[in-house]
Amino acid sequence: MKKDQAIEDAHLEYMELAQNPGSPAAAAKPQPQPKPGEFKHIGQDTPRVDGKKIVTGAAAFTHDLYFDGMLNAKILRSPHASADVVSIDLGPALNYPGVMAALKLKEGRVKWAGEQIAAVAALDEKTAEEALALIKVEYKVLPHVVSEEKAMEQGAPPVQDQGNVQKLNEYNRGDIEKGFKEADLVFEQTYKTSWEVHQTAETHSSLAKWDGDNLTVWDSTQAVQSVRDGLARSLNIPAGRVKVIKHYMGGGFGSKLSLNDYTVVAARLARETGRPVKVVLTRKENSYCVGYRPSARMTIKAGVKKDGTLTAIHWKNYVCGGIGRGDRCAEPATDVYKCPNVKVEEYSVFVNTCGSRATRAPGHTQGTFGLEGFMEELAAKLDLDPLELRLKNYSAKDKGDTGTIYSTKGLDQCYKLGAEKIGWARRNKKPGAGSGKIRTGIGLASQIWPGAGVPGTLADLKIYADGSIEVECGTQDIGCGTRTHIAVVAAETLGLEPRDISVKIGNSDYPWAPISGGSLTTPSVAPAVRDAALKAAEYLKGLASKKLNVAPAEIALENNKLVVKADPAKAVEIKELARSLPRPIVFHGERSAHPSTYVFQTFGAHFAEVEVDTETGKIRVKKVVAAHDIGRVINRLTAESQVLGGITQGLSAALFEEKLMDPETGTMVNPNLHDYKIATSLDIPEIVPLFADVVDDRLNNLGAKGLGEPPRIPPSAAIANAVYNAIGVHVREIPMTPAKVLAALKRKEAKP
Ligand code: MOS
Repeated sequence: MKKDQAIEDAHLEYMELAQNPGSPAAAAKPQPQPKPGEFKHIGQDTPRVDGKKIVTGAAAFTHDLYFDGMLNAKILRSPHASADVVSIDLGPALNYPGVMAALKLKEGRVKWAGEQIAAVAALDEKTAEEALALIKVEYKVLPHVVSEEKAMEQGAPPVQDQGNVQKLNEYNRGDIEKGFKEADLVFEQTYKTSWEVHQTAETHSSLAKWDGDNLTVWDSTQAVQSVRDGLARSLNIPAGRVKVIKHYMGGGFGSKLSLNDYTVVAARLARETGRPVKVVLTRKENSYCVGYRPSARMTIKAGVKKDGTLTAIHWKNYVCGGIGRGDRCAEPATDVYKCPNVKVEEYSVFVNTCGSRATRAPGHTQGTFGLEGFMEELAAKLDLDPLELRLKNYSAKDKGDTGTIYSTKGLDQCYKLGAEKIGWARRNKKPGAGSGKIRTGIGLASQIWPGAGVPGTLADLKIYADGSIEVECGTQDIGCGTRTHIAVVAAETLGLEPRDISVKIGNSDYPWAPISGGSLTTPSVAPAVRDAALKAAEYLKGLASKKLNVAPAEIALENNKLVVKADPAKAVEIKELARSLPRPIVFHGERSAHPSTYVFQTFGAHFAEVEVDTETGKIRVKKVVAAHDIGRVINRLTAESQVLGGITQGLSAALFEEKLMDPETGTMVNPNLHDYKIATSLDIPEIVPLFADVVDDRLNNLGAKGLGEPPRIPPSAAIANAVYNAIGVHVREIPMTPAKVLAALKRKEAKP
């Protein structure tokens, strides 16, 4: 299980990084901030600098790459969910014309259907596929279990040696029993989320090519630097001999956060054959072999005063992530609302399917579905406005107002902006108060997520002697518009246009940047670029000061020039100054540390409006208003794209998505985009992205936080709450299929 362990370790490392980005102990000084009104580009709508390339098909994705002499690899996967591999005979495959190499990949116990067993490299994909069928594998098939319920039963086939149920997380503050005693009302309810597959548009893919002892891998990855380090470890070669490149990518959402097993296979086959080897996972493999969001079954019990004051929260959760431990989901419950007494117990349930992976806002997405559904039902019990209930328990510090103060918190602004825009007063004052076949409702959900960025991120800004300017950073664009953010920040700082900046990213040889996950990229990279550009600006002002005979402080950078502030007619072009440079000059930028006296989080609130057909059980989402506090917005256009994407995925999970397993064979029954339902353009409502006006001047030199994950967190809960508001009964389980909606309506009829 070495490979699975590695993926699981990467997952946990990622969670650590996302939730506690390792701020050095030294408290940092407040960072110099640009002043409002000072911007030409930051916070404006800048079209992607590479947009034309992407929409015309000129951008090279890993799938698109081709080299002369290149071989295609295919992987044989276990058809059994639990078995011992007795023997593997590669002979017939190796003798098949066109096959250049084959590898055995497994010894001993197989724990899920889809584990790598063997691989071949052949002249083309079809030959490789045919050769797989010739590999002879003898298995000793063992009993398996793929359902969480069954795995918890006495005598269930053991998935992990230590037992199928293991403690994942516990947390306590205050005195939970005392909290329940102080309550006027104690309420308990259970909420469930399903296994959601990432379903990236571009399936997983790697291409490996050796040049002597040096390996280059083009990888569809969210993390060129960690894939480099992982490959070096796996192949036992120095990290400096490995280069990982990622130009463009069709989605990762957490499934491409670290080195994948098939990438190592491509590198090994390339070394053995002396030819470039490419592996592209099929849609089927992409559906059942590279992770999914682990499910959660959250039982929440809370004590509350008549006026809505929370006195106690007990959070008990069973997560199921196949052979992996899954996500801790309790953070929204421990952090979002003021509550002195909290107890958390979370357990992993192990079953024989592929290990889950971080999936866009891991843990918080499930936890928010539970917590926010619960808050909505609690408000109805107390006959309170659900927004009032949230405001009643508003906190200024983390850990439910018992911990460290938030550096800034604009959640109140988000509530205000969102409630106004959706027309909160239009909702049913009592859930289900409407009549007729089609019922409408409005619901809300709150969101919290770290997304503060990683100190120590590096970026180099280079001025060439022809005056052209380039930024190099070992980050990667996973589709969010990172090249554009970098160009915007550098251009803003140097008085240029974004198109004037050459941006070089997606190469592990460039200066260090973290994984693109955890909403880390912009708040890590943009401040490093800003730092480098500020240093370049100082240097240029120094040069211009001699030429213009004024002090550097009297000089501003604008419109490609250095201009004397008091006398704009006196100016010198950057190009002209650069001509005097003896060589290109590089300015090293670094993302600063976080002050340890504050906690940094992103906040948001979504408001959804739905229509429910009470005869068919079908839900139609009409509108979602999404208000976010992410500090300073760097580029409004791409920020809005993040919100549209997050809501699309959240809606999709709320209504459609579920990885389904066949209990008999232990295999996935819907590993394709026909049977695995995702939202399509016809399902997408009107979406209104709004941003609170908050700048966090303690956070970094731009006051910018991340937005990759925040908009993915509240939509499923906001939609479920709107459904509750429409029909007066909470569905409590996603996906809210028509059958579940009808069952909920029946439940309501049974006990009105
Ligand atoms: Mo992620 S789950 O931040 O790629």
